[in-house]
Amino acid sequence: MLKNIVLLCIAFLNAQGSRMSNGYWNGKWFPHAPDEMDSNPAASMRNYLLHDGKHGISMGIVDPSCDDAKTNLVTDWFMNPENYTCYENRRLYLPKSSVHPIHSTDHIPPEYSAPHKCMNETIDYDEPIPTFGTHRPLWAIYGEYTFVPIQRWLHNLEHGAVVMLYHPCANKNQVNFLKKMIKSCLYKHIITPYDQLTVERPLALVTWGHRLEMSKVAGELVVDFIRKHALRGPEKTTKDGQYSLMLIERSRIVSDIDDSSLCPTYSNMNMK
Ligand SMILES: *[C@@H]1O[C@H](CO)[C@@H](O)[C@H](O)[C@H]1NC(C)=O
Ligand SMILES: *[C@@H]1O[C@H](CO)[C@@H](O)[C@H](O)[C@H]1NC(C)=O
Repeated sequence: MLKNIVLLCIAFLNAQGSRMSNGYWNGKWFPHAPDEMDSNPAASMRNYLLHDGKHGISMGIVDPSCDDAKTNLVTDWFMNPENYTCYENRRLYLPKSSVHPIHSTDHIPPEYSAPHKCMNETIDYDEPIPTFGTHRPLWAIYGEYTFVPIQRWLHNLEHGAVVMLYHPCANKNQVNFLKKMIKSCLYKHIITPYDQLTVERPLALVTWGHRLEMSKVAGELVVDFIRKHALRGPEKTTKDGQYSLMLIERSRIVSDIDDSSLCPTYSNMNMK
């Protein structure tokens, strides 16, 4: 992660050096030139800086030859129950008050615009919990899923969503408590299990550039995190998504479609 942050900062500083003319980059590449492109965020960023236009492939357009949210979905997920089933000892994942929550930030330059890739290409991530990066042109319908892959929910983050991740073995009371909080805090949310969370912190909230990992639901922190970091994605749209594979329940409006009031029922913060 540190590596990525450093790379991004360098890419950002380079970009600030205004060594671009006619849309072509004449400066030095770090760590390598874009023809050695990979899908890490720094590379996506170089791709964006090099090529004109925002995402390369337009968002929200249902195009069966690229992405219609129905075809070739196995590129992102084999629909294998192992991704949402607990196979380990649930006791390992019990909430511990002694394990403090961790809030980490990726400093995403405001110029960064995440590329879109069609379903004929895989997208891999360097981070277990990415907060930005290359994703699919069509995003997920807001709500709770049996499972939804990163390649979809990252696009929702870009639109300001809060994504709740929980390990399939996480404590059910904690998971249900956090789900309830998220659902009563904002309409723009996605909830999915995710098996790459740690044993120490099997609960996480993600927004564009931010992640909060927890062992135990820290109510005030959750509300504070949502109020500070929800709806801060670079693209402002309330339009719902198109992807709905294994959607369990659509989001309900909390305050209004714009989520003008975040976590309205938690106003006095008496959650202890
Ligand atoms: C994937 O499909 C898109 C749209 O049909 C096309 O532009 C792109 O070149 C294809 N990529 C590969 C690697 O085949
Ligand atoms: C599903 O689980 C397998 C095995 O742990 C893992 O290799 C794969 O990356 C997971 N898929 C997704 C989409 O998370």
